[in-house]
Amino acid sequence: MESVNTPTGDDALKTAKRLIKETIPNRKKIITASILCMVGVSVFTAALAYTTKLIVNDVFVAKDAGAAIEVAIIVIFVSFSKSLFHYGNAVLQTVLNRSISSFYQKEAFQKTLRREISFFNGKHASDHMAQIRLYGMAAGQAVTAVCSRFLTEVLTLVALFVVMFLQDALMTLYSIVIIPIIFGLVSFLSRKIRKVAKEETDLSGHYFAAGSEALAGVRTVKSYNLERKSIEKFNSSVDALEDRIFGISKVTAATHPIMEFLGGLVLGVFVIYAAWQTITYGKTPGEFTAFITAFLLAYQPASKISKLWVELQKSLTQSFFMFRLIDTKPQSVSYGNKSLQSGNGSVTFSDVSFGYENDEVSIDKVSFNLQPGDKVAIVGKSGAGKSTLVDLILGFYSPTDGMIEIGTMDISSISPMDLKNHIAFISQDVFLFDDTIEENIKDGFAGASQEEIIAAVKSAQVDGFAEDFPLGLQTRVGANGSNLSGGQKQRVAIARGLLKKASIYIFDEATSALDVENEREIMTALLKTLKNETVIFVTHRPALFEYVDKVLMLEKGRIVGFDRPSKIYKTSTEFRELFGVLQ
Ligand SMILES: Nc1ncnc2c1ncn2[C@@H]1O[C@H](COP(=O)(O)OP(=O)(O)OP(=O)(O)O)[C@@H](O)[C@H]1O
Ligand SMILES: [Mg+2]
Repeated sequence: MESVNTPTGDDALKTAKRLIKETIPNRKKIITASILCMVGVSVFTAALAYTTKLIVNDVFVAKDAGAAIEVAIIVIFVSFSKSLFHYGNAVLQTVLNRSISSFYQKEAFQKTLRREISFFNGKHASDHMAQIRLYGMAAGQAVTAVCSRFLTEVLTLVALFVVMFLQDALMTLYSIVIIPIIFGLVSFLSRKIRKVAKEETDLSGHYFAAGSEALAGVRTVKSYNLERKSIEKFNSSVDALEDRIFGISKVTAATHPIMEFLGGLVLGVFVIYAAWQTITYGKTPGEFTAFITAFLLAYQPASKISKLWVELQKSLTQSFFMFRLIDTKPQSVSYGNKSLQSGNGSVTFSDVSFGYENDEVSIDKVSFNLQPGDKVAIVGKSGAGKSTLVDLILGFYSPTDGMIEIGTMDISSISPMDLKNHIAFISQDVFLFDDTIEENIKDGFAGASQEEIIAAVKSAQVDGFAEDFPLGLQTRVGANGSNLSGGQKQRVAIARGLLKKASIYIFDEATSALDVENEREIMTALLKTLKNETVIFVTHRPALFEYVDKVLMLEKGRIVGFDRPSKIYKTSTEFRELFGVLQ
């Protein structure tokens, strides 16, 4: 898991640079159009301020009714143009924001899915999803802020300063004095925001995890009366998240009133100065009106800039962590690029040890050899390390010690793609996509012919139940197969595995939900289909022993028996203890 540390201002800058480099070159058209609109907005805002001089001097001071119409037309035209550019800019900002945010959500999802299995241990799926969404949105907001919202305000500010300067250079310089004060304040708030932004991401993860955990397990929740506990858990994650969001709003909201106060300060001084100038030097009221209007208008972009800047720190912090996720390479067991010959189904463990992060040894100096075509049952008490051993063969984890060979090749030299194509895994908990039975089976091998599909369907006894559905194999299985029974799901999963035409088959309690008769039929069909393949059954059921050549017994991660089913009873005391009564 990534450590929670606050990115520095330097990190934020690097993140911003990278975001721009990765997103802008492909979006030149939108950016150009957006810049055009920004220039339009700022020019017409400044023009609007300037028109007040015309209103006061040409119409009111000159008492010229004819000029009033002319000036009115100018004012209407200027404000209409300003609104038009404003609208264009807003639309383009949204387009830019959406396109970048969806780009990074796709990127972050892809990178998350490609991460190694251990990355997913101990974290809810919805926790990851919340992160992906927040990260993507933050990246979109950051780029839009830097390339568009920010620029618009800066350009407008500059244009208004030009108007102010043309009216009264001295006062303009005086109002610039407050800039360093604003700067110091904003950078203080930025640091605060960067500190809490990461927490918001984590807390939204917990929020989604708490909610979907209860909803996904709603049957258990209801049957054990756990509604109250689930609600309390959810409530506390909502509160924690809201607390953080409140903390962030408190900081961002502070920028506005502070800016307002500073503006008032300048304005107060200006009133005195203006009165003195008019009385002593005879300046026109139009010039002052234009200056004040420009100043008041400048105030809005200035306060927006400071608020945007603080918000930007939040988006950049989240983008910083997003890049960290995207940049982390999956720790694959097999880094090699060697290809495996099909039919190479031998598996050799030489002194293999493995422990999860908690330092306990789950596999302890295990050595064994399976020849192509071997059928073996792996048995042992719950927690003995059976699934862990299988995960090692699948390359989900790399051994902390020792070597695993597939065929004659070290597992770490085999290309990851080849390793996966070589092994078919039918797991303890079946996963099906919300699609038809046939499509789920075809996931085993997309290029399978209709005959191959039918053969797999028959061997796995899927036809036995599919025939009862009006749509047969075209029946939709529902979200994660919720329309099928546990045993039916297992049979679909077996058919999917068979279609893969792998050299090694691993069934991790894959027939546990089947009735005795079904299991027997499937096992007979399986052994006929998989004559030359290496097949490993992880099982608690002694009934399966009649189908295998060998039984491998694990206890606390060690091999405590490896023999023919008929002999292991004599050679392993542990086996006798576990299955004694049955033999
Ligand atoms: N992701 C994990 N993180 C930490 N420890 C784990 C993890 N998965 C399994 N373990 C530990 O490793 C040991 C072996 O677990 P494993 O799942 O391999 O047992 P098993 O033989 O498959 O059990 P079962 O028959 O119940 O499926 C157990 O002590 C378990 O607590
Ligand atoms: Mg297991």
